[in-house]
Amino acid sequence: MGKLQDKVAVITGGASGIGAATAKLFVEEGAKVVLVDLNEEKGKAFEQELKNQNAEALFVKGNITSEEEVAAFFKQTIETFGKVDIVFNNAGIGRVHSSHDLEYSEWRNTVNVDLDGVFLVAREALREFLKAGGGVMVNTASMYGWVGSPGSAAYNAAKGGVINLTRSLALEYAEQNIRINALCPGFIDTPIIPEESKDILRQMTPMKRLGQSEEMAKAVLFLSSDDSSFMTGNTLTVDGGYTAQ
Ligand SMILES: NC(=O)c1ccc[n+]([C@@H]2O[C@H](COP(=O)([O-])OP(=O)(O)OC[C@H]3O[C@@H](n4cnc5c(N)ncnc54)[C@H](O)[C@@H]3O)[C@@H](O)[C@H]2O)c1
Repeated sequence: MGKLQDKVAVITGGASGIGAATAKLFVEEGAKVVLVDLNEEKGKAFEQELKNQNAEALFVKGNITSEEEVAAFFKQTIETFGKVDIVFNNAGIGRVHSSHDLEYSEWRNTVNVDLDGVFLVAREALREFLKAGGGVMVNTASMYGWVGSPGSAAYNAAKGGVINLTRSLALEYAEQNIRINALCPGFIDTPIIPEESKDILRQMTPMKRLGQSEEMAKAVLFLSSDDSSFMTGNTLTVDGGYTAQ
């Protein structure tokens, strides 16, 4: 029996990187997965890949910054699988830009996806969890929610926001059988990291390598399963030692 046997998990950013690796591990552990992503081509191909392995998977194209689309993908999840047990609130974007000439529209776009979008997904998840009598949420923040770095003020501010949003929601719903924690990845080898940056990011990491999405998936599984049953409002930082410096 898997650690997530017959659980239904919604995974935003589920077509790529950390979200996709988590979906793979979740289905190995017996879960049914709903992959939400803007990238329809990748999402549909990945849905098919999982189905070919006899997994129960559904891809839904959705934008986490749209209230209507967030409500719609939760509705589709309930219609297809009957419930939502786990929400991996993971979709995000990252850009490097000096702050003194960062357009306000670019600041807004980053915060809109990386913080507002996380809230919109969390709000809908909470509505379903309250109806069902409980649930588990994992929000993807970043090690840059803990420490600063030059050139990523909007991203880092949003990720810091995700950490304290996680704590605040966890406290608000702790008595309702709802656990909410955050994952704080270091530099992970996914499409969000430009190829030309990889060498320098390896050098900046004490373990002198990038993390793998599969290593994040294991942490998300821990936070999503009963293995972390007494844990809420907390963070798991998986960063090859970066924030120990
Ligand atoms: N890779 C890293 O080094 C790293 C480090 C720290 C935190 N993170 C965070 O991990 C999360 C996953 O990133 P990843 O590294 O797997 O990158 P990724 O680019 O492989 O995956 C992110 C996915 O999110 C989707 N997405 C973006 N905006 C969306 C929106 N508005 N609505 C729906 N889907 C949207 C993208 O289409 C993409 O498929 C992000 O929140 C990112 O900030 C990544």
